Amino acid sequence: MPYPEIRPRRLRRNAAVRRLVSETRLDPAELVVPMFVKEGLTEPRAIASLPGVLQHSRDSLRKAAVEAVQAGVGGIMLFGVPATRDETGSGGVDPAGVLNTAIRDVVAEVGDSTVVMSDLCLDEFTSHGHCGLLTPDGGVDNDATLAAYADMAVAQAAAGVHVVGPSGMMDGQVGVVRKALDAAGHRDVSVLAYAVKYASAFYGPFRDAVESALEGDRRTYQQDPANLRESLREVELDVAEGADMVMVKPALPYLDVVSAVRAAVNVPVAAYQVSGEYAMVEAAAANGWIDRERVMLETLTSIGRAGAQIILTYWAVEAAQLLRERY
Ligand code: PBG
Repeated sequence: MPYPEIRPRRLRRNAAVRRLVSETRLDPAELVVPMFVKEGLTEPRAIASLPGVLQHSRDSLRKAAVEAVQAGVGGIMLFGVPATRDETGSGGVDPAGVLNTAIRDVVAEVGDSTVVMSDLCLDEFTSHGHCGLLTPDGGVDNDATLAAYADMAVAQAAAGVHVVGPSGMMDGQVGVVRKALDAAGHRDVSVLAYAVKYASAFYGPFRDAVESALEGDRRTYQQDPANLRESLREVELDVAEGADMVMVKPALPYLDVVSAVRAAVNVPVAAYQVSGEYAMVEAAAANGWIDRERVMLETLTSIGRAGAQIILTYWAVEAAQLLRERY
């Protein structure tokens, strides 16, 4: 031992000192819960690959939103599952479509007590499952899709959403959405840009949750998992186009990206702990192979430590409740 004796373990000797020196604290207010609502359901339905997560009916969604507010979560991210789909995803723009109806329902229920957000993408609404409109040869048409996103953003804002989350990875989507919102008088609606979104196999259970029609993949618009510098470019563009907040997705396999984005910009940074990340932990825990609660909080702490100040997670409500009991 050198003298004076340097012993880091002194700061780990009991719970009180560990709490005192803790560098990362999770707060329910930074957790956002994604919720699914399916058109025409009268009872909520379980999702086999996302144990504990439901496809909601209109009624059960309202109740779940209230429960989330009571748990203290910072926000709710809404996804709609329509009963029918078409080539252009027109259900996303329809004011009576499942997602716009859900926004209206949830905002009527919770008002301004939490932040109500909506996924702004066509993949749930198109018969082919792609995030945009197709060209005659089957490619995804960037600029035609932008016009659809603009209409969808205005429809969501008119339904009362506080934050739109463009997630389709079309070039220029943030600028087009911002302009459309402003032109329609929705200056107070924020844009949470899915600035960095990898073409990830971790989205598998989500695609079950929204009954995705996709065949093939999204590699012509979502990013290659091998790339980090490209993410910084995406973030830079989105901030320049007016993103109020930027998101990295998935979270745990991309903590280096979260950290680099945090260092690069001064807007709030969010990370999305996606369906496959959640499902892996649930599956291992169901087998008795890991301690579910500890792993849950460890993953969320790690995402926070990497630099995300907002975390989207299917555990948001439960984690918020746990954190409240603990402190
Ligand atoms: C697109 C969207 C997806 C997710 C969130 N928004 C699916 C995709 O890009 O294929 C995935 C979220 C998750 O896996 O939890 N609407």
